[in-house]
Amino acid sequence: MNLNTPPAIAGNIPQDVTERAGENAVFIVYGLKETPRTADRIKDLCANFSAMIRSIRNRFPDMQFSCTMGFGADAWSRLFPERPKPRELETFQEIKGARHTAVSTPGDLFFHIRGRQMGVCFEFASIIDEKLKGTVDPIDEVHGFRYQDGKAIIGFVDGTENPAVDENPYEFAVIGDEDSGFAGGSYIFVQKYLHDMNAWNALPVEEQEKTIGRKKFNDVELSDEEKPANAHNAVTNIQDSAGNDLKIVRANMPFANTSKGEYGTYFIGYAGTFSTTRRMLENMFVGDPAGNTDRLLDFSTAVTGTLFFAPSYDLLETLGE
Ligand code: HEM
Repeated sequence: MNLNTPPAIAGNIPQDVTERAGENAVFIVYGLKETPRTADRIKDLCANFSAMIRSIRNRFPDMQFSCTMGFGADAWSRLFPERPKPRELETFQEIKGARHTAVSTPGDLFFHIRGRQMGVCFEFASIIDEKLKGTVDPIDEVHGFRYQDGKAIIGFVDGTENPAVDENPYEFAVIGDEDSGFAGGSYIFVQKYLHDMNAWNALPVEEQEKTIGRKKFNDVELSDEEKPANAHNAVTNIQDSAGNDLKIVRANMPFANTSKGEYGTYFIGYAGTFSTTRRMLENMFVGDPAGNTDRLLDFSTAVTGTLFFAPSYDLLETLGE
């Protein structure tokens, strides 16, 4: 948890977009209702958001609490018609490959709440819901948990190649001077995936490892010779034209409803440029070259897909005025 304030980017303090996935998370997508009070209520939340987070952190200092808030493209235009839009904020355009589709689903407001205990996530979610009551409709809510040593529900450690240790995650997760009106902001892309666990568990461990590109037991990366071109960590490993790695900050969480046979991954990626996330998605769903689709998609179906923009704290405060 960032107990200290994150570094200001071009004078703006980002939301907690570089945090680890954490122990528990609640992901909430709302739609805006057309009411005369909607815009005022949401602007009021923008104005109070940092104070609400401060309050929870002061009350529960050991809870590793954080929450980020984001806006969809339509909501942005409706709520702030007088303001320009972040350069890459648009309604997510579905990506349709020959065999797999990254669907686009609606969403106006998004909250990503993280905490060491689910109770603290619940408390914050209920405070937000109370504040927005009557002005929003629920679209989706997923409760994620940390599994084993940070594994996705398919049994592989998730998040290893996130920028950390020798790389500054803010460089990848946060908008800089290139879109100066929105510096310190971040693009949030979320997808809810359901896994076919029967098919996945029927796959020998060696084949599972070739699907992810890492060892199942200890997270060690497969060598270039061992790793197929359609491994998940091969298709999502991308570079710019100068050969520099392009990264995003992922904070995926497993979720499950075991009695219903529902096993999933809530994918969430924070990026300073949505085009980076989009290129990874195109590699997964269409393939580069076309047809080299991500083997993980043979066992995983994206049932949602929505893009949001998380303003810096400074911009949130201005939006609340
Ligand atoms: C079914 C949903 C997904 C699951 C279960 C999943 C799981 C994983 C796992 C286990 C790894 C290897 C460890 C690591 O480096 O984190 C990984 C790597 C990665 N994933 Fe995913 N992932 C999913 C979806 C996505 C999506 C939608 C994207 C991008 C839009 C993505 C981007 C990446 C990247 C960039 C890496 C690191 C690649 C590298 O080694 O350079 N993942 N993922």
